[in-house]
Amino acid sequence: MDTLVVHGGTPLRGEIAVAGAKNVALKAFASAILTDEEVVIHNVPLIADVHCMLDVLTSLGIKVDINGHTVRIQSKSLKSTTVPLDVGARLRTSSLVAGPLLARYGAARIPNPGGCRIGARPIDRHIRGLAEMGAEISYHPDDGYFYLRADTLHGAGFEFEKNTHTGTEALILAAVLAEGETVLKNAAAEVEVDDLISLLTGMGATIKRTKEREIVIYGVKKLHGVEYSLMPDRNEEVTFALAAAVTSGDVLVHHSRRAHLGAFLEAFSSAGGQYEAVDASTTRYRQIGPIKPTDIVTLPHPGFMTDWQAPWALYMTQANGISTMHETVFESRFSYVSELRKMGAQIEYYDPPVKNPEIYYNFNWSDRRSGYHQGIRITGPTPLHDAVVEIDDLRAGATVLLAALTAGGTSYIHGVEQIDRGYENIEERLRKLGARIERKKEDEI
Ligand code: EPU
Repeated sequence: MDTLVVHGGTPLRGEIAVAGAKNVALKAFASAILTDEEVVIHNVPLIADVHCMLDVLTSLGIKVDINGHTVRIQSKSLKSTTVPLDVGARLRTSSLVAGPLLARYGAARIPNPGGCRIGARPIDRHIRGLAEMGAEISYHPDDGYFYLRADTLHGAGFEFEKNTHTGTEALILAAVLAEGETVLKNAAAEVEVDDLISLLTGMGATIKRTKEREIVIYGVKKLHGVEYSLMPDRNEEVTFALAAAVTSGDVLVHHSRRAHLGAFLEAFSSAGGQYEAVDASTTRYRQIGPIKPTDIVTLPHPGFMTDWQAPWALYMTQANGISTMHETVFESRFSYVSELRKMGAQIEYYDPPVKNPEIYYNFNWSDRRSGYHQGIRITGPTPLHDAVVEIDDLRAGATVLLAALTAGGTSYIHGVEQIDRGYENIEERLRKLGARIERKKEDEI
C-alpha cells in the first residue's frame, strides 16, 4: 500500500499530454477475443485497470504482449471459458468477455463483477440483452458466477430500460458475430462507445448509429485482426483542466478533444474558467478572476458526466457562494465528501426533490440504501488545509489529490491504488507541472 505525501499550495503550470482512454482500452481488449488474428492496440494507458483486464485475458489462455503503450493480443485458442474469481472480481469490465466468449465458443462463466465502490452496479441490463440474443443464463449464488451458454447467438431487437454505457458495449460485442441483425434502442451515446465501434468496424464488423440512441449491428461470420489507436481520455482532460483552475495555475493540455467535453466546457465557462483552443488538439486551461458558483446535474452523454462530479465539487469549494451537485447516474458517488470536509470544505448532503425517482434516476432505485443522498450543497470559498485522507474510488482519489495540491501544508493520501487504477504515473506527470508530491511505502512514513 502506497501513500502520497502532497505539499500543497503551488499553482500548477506547464504542459501535459492526455493518455489513451481507459474506458475504451478495457473494452478493446475484450474485442480481441472475437478473432483468432492479432489485434494491436496503441495509445494504451499503463494503469492498474489495464493490467487487470489483460490478466482476465491471460487467465483464459489468450496471448498478450505489452510493449510500451502498445498491446498485442492473439486469441487463437482458449484454455478455459471461465474467468477466475480472483481476477474477474477485481474489475467490472471483466464481464464484457461474456459476449465474445459466447459468440466464439458458445459458453462463458463470469464472476459477479467488481470495480469502483460507487454503488451496487449490477449488470442486469446486460444479462437481459444477452438472453434476448439467445443465451441461456443462470446465476449461482453459491459460487457468485453467471453461467452462460448459447449454441448460436442471434440478432434481436432490444430496448434498454435505462442508459447503460458498458451494457451497450456488452451487447455490441455479442452482436457483431451473431446471426442476423440486432437493433439496440435507448443505446448509450457516450463517445467511448463510438471509439469501440470504430475499432470493431476496423475488424470487419458492420455497426451503424441509425438515429439518436439507436445502434444497428449486422452480424458477420468472421472478424479479422486490426491495428488501432485509442482516443484520448476525456476524464483525464477534465482532471487537468480543473487542476489548473483550482490551484490558480495555467496548463496547456495536449491530445485534447474539446468535442468530447461539451457539457464540461459550458459549465467551466459559466464558472469563470478560461479555456483557449490553441490548435485542434491543444487546449489551455486556467482561471482568471473569481470562481462563480454553479448548480450541476450529472447525466448520461451528452450531459455533464458523473465522472466529473467529484473534481467539480472541489472546484466549487473555491467558488464565491453556494453551489449544488445532483448525482443521478450512480446511487452512491460521494465518498470524497468526508475527505474534503477533513480539509475544511463546507459540504452538506441534501435530497433534491424528484417526482418519479424510479424513472428519473439512471441507477435502479431498488439499489439505493438508507442514508444515501443524491445531492450536495457546497459553500465557498473555504481555504483548504492539510489532512490525512483515505480514498476508495478512482475519481474520488483524483479529487482528493487535487484538493491536497490546493491546500496549505502537507497532506497524506492513503488508498493510492485507486488513483493508479485510472491515471498513469500521476505524481510524476503532475510534478512536471510543479506539484510537490512524493510516493512512499507504508514503512517509509
Ligand atoms: N446499471 C444497472 N444495471 C446494469 C447496468 C447499469 O443498474 O445492468 C446502473 C449502474 O449501477 C449505474 C447506472 O446504471 O448506476 C449507469 O451505469 P452504466 O452501465 O452506464 O455505467 P458503467 O458502464 O458501470 C461506465 C464507466 C464509468 C462511467 C459510467 C458513466 C467503464 C468501465 N466505466 O460505467 O467510469 O462513470 O460509464 O459514463 O466504462 C470511471 O472511469 O471511474 C468510471 C466509473
